[in-house]
Amino acid sequence: MKREQWGSRTGFILAAVGSAVGLGNIWRFPYMAYENGGGAFFIPYLFAMLTAGIPFMILEFTLGKKYRAGAPTTLRTLNARFEWLGWFQVMIAAIIACYYVVVIAWAISYAYFAFTQAWGADTNAFFFGDFLNLADDSSPSNLGKLQWHLLLPLLLAWSATYFATFRGVKGGIEKVNKILMPLLFMMVLLLIARIVFLPGALNGINWLLEPDFSKIWDLKVWSAAYGQIFFTLSVGFAIMLSYASYLPEKSDINNNAFMTVLMNCGFSMLAGVMIFGALGYMANVQDKALTEVVSSGVGLAFVTLPTAINLLPAPGVMGPLFFFALIFAGVSSHISIAEAVTTGLMDKLGWSRPKTATIFCGLGLVVSLLFITQGGLLLLDLVDYFINNMALLAACLLELVLVGWLCRLQDFREYANRASEFAVGNWWTICIKFVSVAILVVILFNNIMTAFKENYGGYGDHEVLYLGWGMLAVMLVIAIIINLSSKKEARL
Ligand code: ALA
Repeated sequence: MKREQWGSRTGFILAAVGSAVGLGNIWRFPYMAYENGGGAFFIPYLFAMLTAGIPFMILEFTLGKKYRAGAPTTLRTLNARFEWLGWFQVMIAAIIACYYVVVIAWAISYAYFAFTQAWGADTNAFFFGDFLNLADDSSPSNLGKLQWHLLLPLLLAWSATYFATFRGVKGGIEKVNKILMPLLFMMVLLLIARIVFLPGALNGINWLLEPDFSKIWDLKVWSAAYGQIFFTLSVGFAIMLSYASYLPEKSDINNNAFMTVLMNCGFSMLAGVMIFGALGYMANVQDKALTEVVSSGVGLAFVTLPTAINLLPAPGVMGPLFFFALIFAGVSSHISIAEAVTTGLMDKLGWSRPKTATIFCGLGLVVSLLFITQGGLLLLDLVDYFINNMALLAACLLELVLVGWLCRLQDFREYANRASEFAVGNWWTICIKFVSVAILVVILFNNIMTAFKENYGGYGDHEVLYLGWGMLAVMLVIAIIINLSSKKEARL
């Protein structure tokens, strides 16, 4: 059967940008920058973008376009012994799909609350208490009761993804992104246009951009920057490879990759300006220092910003606008995360798209119910930590080593350059083979050591062991079993 194709170059770029621009940009980037020294974070971030982000994007576009298959089949074509890495990446995507959608579901509820600021004055008590119903004894292993009021938004979020993946690349994913992306950029620009004129907003923005050079020697800052780049660009977990596998024969690679990365990172800056502008204004109104009003993690989008929205002029307009932006960014990324799994399964099992999308979205919905329980937030936090800081970085490192060192990287560069509007030089090879690999080895080693030294988030030993390390081990074993069974099939 002929492989589906994107309808136009714009359609592909919008879908790739839609995948990259997500919760990671609006919610994760600002607090990452905040926690890691404000302006000082930009140096490692830009370095990571140039040495890892752009080269990796070019690599994934090249592999996807050349081999016209998702991650497992592409890696298998390179070498039958590499297939497991493709499945490991697909499993990363599958797990992220199950909890990422829950944050979109929260945003859907909050968009509704935002019309009347139903969260009230104590946004902290509202989010953790009234909304999530987190109990004193909740933990990742003591999930408590299902929160039924989250089921409808969860179903809505999964339905959007199901619609797009079911309809396919041109008729679903491309169409949805052509609507959501322009709307998202417009909404964020509108919000910024209003926010920057509020008293104190510029202080907030300055604070974000003001460098704290003492942090630049801190390995943690570099680790955060590289982790953020891979997550935000959707590379290393089968997504961009799948999207590129639907590129028509005559498609540019290098320029498309540059555009995708630059639009994504530019959008992150915009999101930072929007959020820190609002926080600067809030600090001004409350007569507090900015550091006293900021919170990190989920608290930023669901506790701090609702407080800022309460204080904004026309909160019934600005609030929904902000949460709809979060939903649109999240949905377009969630579609791509699900598509990475769908493409991987379709290529391997030869199933039709509707069947694959139905099975994956159905199972995904069931698994994501775990995260809408009382302790769901804690489970999400623990799983996200292990997936982002261990699995994703390890998957990126292994992909770079396998492709960079065990294949003829030069051939891929020539292939990309032949297809593209401009050529990339030797710097690309150096970044893939040496710079990114060396930095990833150091960061991953450091992350593993840190995780061994103390339990992340103060979670219990058995929780970290089973739900963190255990999950990674199970993913690895499943990936290897699939790889071994494919080898047998090939021999028969
Ligand atoms: N790239 C997507 C994000 O940043 C996954 O949210």
